[in-house]
Amino acid sequence: MRKKIIAGNWKMNLNVHEAKILFKEISDIVAKNNVAHEVLVFPPSIYIESLLKMNQSTIEIGAQNFHYQNKGAFTGEVSAMQLKQLGCEWVLVGHSERRTMFHERDADLLNKIKAALENGLEVIYCCGETLNEREAGIYFEKIGEQIELLKTLSLNEMKNVAIAYEPIWAIGTGKTARPTEAAEMHDFMRTKLESIFNLEVADSTSLLYGGSCSPQNAKDLFACSNIDGGLIGGASLKAESFGEIIAAI
Ligand code: PGA
Repeated sequence: MRKKIIAGNWKMNLNVHEAKILFKEISDIVAKNNVAHEVLVFPPSIYIESLLKMNQSTIEIGAQNFHYQNKGAFTGEVSAMQLKQLGCEWVLVGHSERRTMFHERDADLLNKIKAALENGLEVIYCCGETLNEREAGIYFEKIGEQIELLKTLSLNEMKNVAIAYEPIWAIGTGKTARPTEAAEMHDFMRTKLESIFNLEVADSTSLLYGGSCSPQNAKDLFACSNIDGGLIGGASLKAESFGEIIAAI
């Protein structure tokens, strides 16, 4: 059975005090409601250690970014190895903000995925098309190409990879993909995984939706059979809205 996952991507938001309060509130919600699926948060890296020390075992913590080398002269960077040593369990790779604003290319993304897996971290690999690509009708092709990046991973490595479909036109815009649009893409992604790997990988890989997911639309999105959870930005910054999304699955 594949995992159901709700992940909060805090991006570069919250001060340390707010981050700790939010983390505690989310932990309490998860504990109180006996939430069975995985709840993850991706705080700014500098908060990871203090949140881990709060010892709220109901939530796992991930890093939004890292370098693919384990160590060396890479001023300003942190490595997957360092994150793992801290107790971090997940990483995000391929978020559209990193692809566009920080010019991360396919080769960088693959190196990052491999470094994360080698260091025992689980990966949420993000893909998505631009508005132009959607309007040009080439969105399946684009997502197909992005998923192809994973083709050199082993079947075993794929056990630690989840994929988030995040249409770029939906991120932070308040414009969500309609459940039918998200569903057809997730169906396509699962078929694509089967053609690259096999049916077992296709069936066991968690596929998440991201892009203006909110308490208002989460239920309809998560009702689609191939959507196994969400990667939530804005709505993960308040315990109340994130809690409602956690409950919607
Ligand atoms: P959003 O962000 O929910 O604010 O649209 C999602 C994401 O960027 O992961």
